[in-house]
Amino acid sequence: MAIFKWQNVLCLQLLVVLFAQAVAVPEYRRLPPLQEQASIQDAWTAERLSNVPQLLRKYGVDAWLMSQKEYAEDTVFWSLKSATQFSARRRTVDLFLANAVEGTSFSYTWIDNTPTVWSELLVVLEAQNVSSIAVNADTDVAFSSGLHAGELNKIIKELGPKWKKKLVVEPMLGVEFIGTMVFNRLGWYRQLQETTWAIISEAFSESVIEPGITTTSDIEWWMREKIQQLNYTTWFMPDITILNAEDPFGNLSSTARRVIQFGDLLHCDFGVTAMGLNTDTQHMAYVLYPGETQEDIPEGYLGGLKQVNRLQDIVKSNMKIGTSGNDILKTSLKQMRSEGFEGRIYCHPIGDWGHSAGTLIGMANLQDEVPVLGDLPLLDNTYYSVELYAEYFVPERNETMNFYLEEDVYWDDEKKDWEWVWGRQEHFHLINPPVNDLFRTQTDL
Ligand SMILES: *[C@@H]1O[C@H](CO)[C@@H](O)[C@H](O)[C@H]1NC(C)=O
Ligand SMILES: *[C@@H]1O[C@H](CO)[C@@H](O)[C@H](O)[C@H]1NC(C)=O
Ligand SMILES: *[C@@H]1O[C@H](CO)[C@@H](O)[C@H](O)[C@H]1NC(C)=O
Ligand SMILES: *[C@@H]1O[C@H](CO)[C@@H](O)[C@H](O)[C@H]1NC(C)=O
Repeated sequence: MAIFKWQNVLCLQLLVVLFAQAVAVPEYRRLPPLQEQASIQDAWTAERLSNVPQLLRKYGVDAWLMSQKEYAEDTVFWSLKSATQFSARRRTVDLFLANAVEGTSFSYTWIDNTPTVWSELLVVLEAQNVSSIAVNADTDVAFSSGLHAGELNKIIKELGPKWKKKLVVEPMLGVEFIGTMVFNRLGWYRQLQETTWAIISEAFSESVIEPGITTTSDIEWWMREKIQQLNYTTWFMPDITILNAEDPFGNLSSTARRVIQFGDLLHCDFGVTAMGLNTDTQHMAYVLYPGETQEDIPEGYLGGLKQVNRLQDIVKSNMKIGTSGNDILKTSLKQMRSEGFEGRIYCHPIGDWGHSAGTLIGMANLQDEVPVLGDLPLLDNTYYSVELYAEYFVPERNETMNFYLEEDVYWDDEKKDWEWVWGRQEHFHLINPPVNDLFRTQTDL
């Protein structure tokens, strides 16, 4: 009976929240059976591979050569491979051509452990009269420096001086190949993002958090288990923080409070991985005191959330295609300061990797410029994590606090603009007074 009443209370609260916030409730999205996942992923890969000749022509190279051995793969291998390949085998050599002779293939793969791989490669290079061969031997960009040092020596030795002279490094090849997200991936990316939100929404609720008892690490491990139950994985350990609990965020000493209390402002940094895609999201939650409703959230907190939403808008509007990450950073920080507030910006590409290929718009410790990676141009048809914080003075606490958010965006090629993949946080997740307290109130009545 009491439970029945309690459910009514919860439903009513849910309705109030829904009407007040008018946001869609994220649902857990089930993944298709593994065989179906593999065919979906292979179709994406085929589409990406078909774009390679065009990519080579864009950067003015004639051929792209990757060579690797089992367990010593080139970074690009992971974006080239089929869904049923789990590593390179023997020596795996991939060659792509910008302008294949008519009637011949633009793409060659050898999986071999005999010298035949080199003699056959030389036959193709000669027949195609290749004038430049890009190799992933960059010194600074991870996605273009996956050619192992020993493997480069092997290539030079086997191809000989004539072809050695034609080797070139073009960092944007790896960056653009890995960074570009074919349109058909978006449907599933959105479902991954929705699942990310659904896990955060449940984690930041009274069904997981009991103030006075639950610790931040309880929530982190609850999230890990939830990911596992859904048959997803992740690319980093979920991170839950109590903002400004004795120790400011970002300066987590072992003495930082871990047990969640009423009135806490909580923060999560959380992402999932599935079907070769990754998400990265930061949200905040407020723990209501017993008897409180969302009307009781301190004004200062609401103001802080608005402020960081504003910073998201500023950065998103400055993400002009072709502009460098460093320019976007400078313009955005300048605009933020002209609007009279402070904060930090550290956005990164996302997709095949959690921190994926493309220009960086600041890093948490680099707010003037990011060397090399910040100088790359912003590419269209990519996904980005808009990651940042805004400072805001909270009168109720008599202190300036940092308000942290992170949401993923994708490039909408029709609108020619960035769009939130699933949405962005504009309302705090709320941890309602614990079930036990409501229960007590019900039976007392
Ligand atoms: C091979 O390419 C070079 C330019 O890179 C050109 O001068 C030469 O004529 C080409 N040879 C053949 C056989 O196509
Ligand atoms: C996870 O995988 C198992 C085994 O295939 C399956 O029984 C279960 O229904 C899956 N769970 C979800 C939430 O998709
Ligand atoms: C970080 O913590 C240390 C030790 O608790 C403290 O001395 C220091 O002032 C803190 N730094 C910041 C930026 O709050
Ligand atoms: C607010 O904090 C400042 C210093 O940070 C202090 O000088 C002031 O007395 C505080 N005000 C109240 C009302 O506690």
